[in-house]
Amino acid sequence: MDLNFFCKELPKIELHAHLNGSLSQATMLQLQRYYVDAGISDKTNTFLDEFQIGAGDTRNLSECFQVFSIAHSLTSTSEALVMATELTLQEFQEDGCCYIELRSTPRDTQYITKKQYIDSIIRAMEKPSINLSIISKLIISINRASQLQEVEEIADIAIERHKIHPDTVVGIELSGNPAVGNFGDFIPALNRARQSGLKVTLHCGEVCNPEEVLEMLNFKPERIGHGVCIHPKYGGTEETWIALCQSKIPVEVCLTSNVNTKITPDYESHHFKELIEAGLSVVLCTDDKGVFATSLSQEYRLCAESFALTRIQVAKLSLDAAQCIFSEANIRELIIGKILKFMNDYTS
Ligand code: IMP
Ligand code: ZN
Repeated sequence: MDLNFFCKELPKIELHAHLNGSLSQATMLQLQRYYVDAGISDKTNTFLDEFQIGAGDTRNLSECFQVFSIAHSLTSTSEALVMATELTLQEFQEDGCCYIELRSTPRDTQYITKKQYIDSIIRAMEKPSINLSIISKLIISINRASQLQEVEEIADIAIERHKIHPDTVVGIELSGNPAVGNFGDFIPALNRARQSGLKVTLHCGEVCNPEEVLEMLNFKPERIGHGVCIHPKYGGTEETWIALCQSKIPVEVCLTSNVNTKITPDYESHHFKELIEAGLSVVLCTDDKGVFATSLSQEYRLCAESFALTRIQVAKLSLDAAQCIFSEANIRELIIGKILKFMNDYTS
């Protein structure tokens, strides 16, 4: 079986995808059309070509973070958010993804409140207007640039919505420009969320900051994202690496995101290799498939090619990812069954 085809057909699990970074050009064009048709405001002049960050892009990390404002200008109403969520879920489904934990940062816009923002995404997940078979869950994001009052407000919304929609709102996470903010300031809000039953994932080690990495690992999140600057070879220290290895916290790995933002020089020298050799759980993810013009199946293919993986090793990655989901055991069993059936059909 051709590797491309294999990676697409393999039932996959996405655990690190930011909604606004995942919007494809096709989805953004549909959203533009919606704004024009609704006569809400003129969104026709958003610069879609500046949204993508390809390999060799000359923008620095802070400039890369500015691209999200392009997507944000297209997700400012409830209808647009429903549309953005449904179309994005559909694209993941068409790429062979059977389970996704999509994440997004609630924003007050000209038209909706943070609560309405989250409720729109929940509605698209629970009662989509299109036919979706993908199982979708929501992780609520906190941006590191937020003021503490806003952080507490988002934690409150996450706790409240988790209470009402426990099967949909499954986690909370910390993201945004890693050069901004101190992790310690977010601990009280994250702890409150955790006590209410939400799982926690943290963007960790995107830039060299061993003290923060240790503080984050000490917090014992259920997963971390990226984990680049943890191994001494990539900007971490012996201490941070040992702490990660001992913690056994699963790592959401985003190959193309790391390469295109130049955190990692190329695919072959990605820390994926060290994580696997240390026996850690690794979950291949897209991060921002719209911004980085990638897909989950492409990430699996690139990983297989860069690290000379067999088809069975590739399928095993998806199986391992299933162990790291925030949903209940019955859902885990369901998706593991799908992957095992695929592997069975493939080997027989
Ligand atoms: P949103 O939360 O749906 O609006 O998705 C976009 C947001 O995700 C950005 O504004 C960032 O806060 C966050 N984000 C996307 N990619 C990254 C990343 O690679 N590192 C840290 N934060 C990110
Ligand atoms: Zn991310």
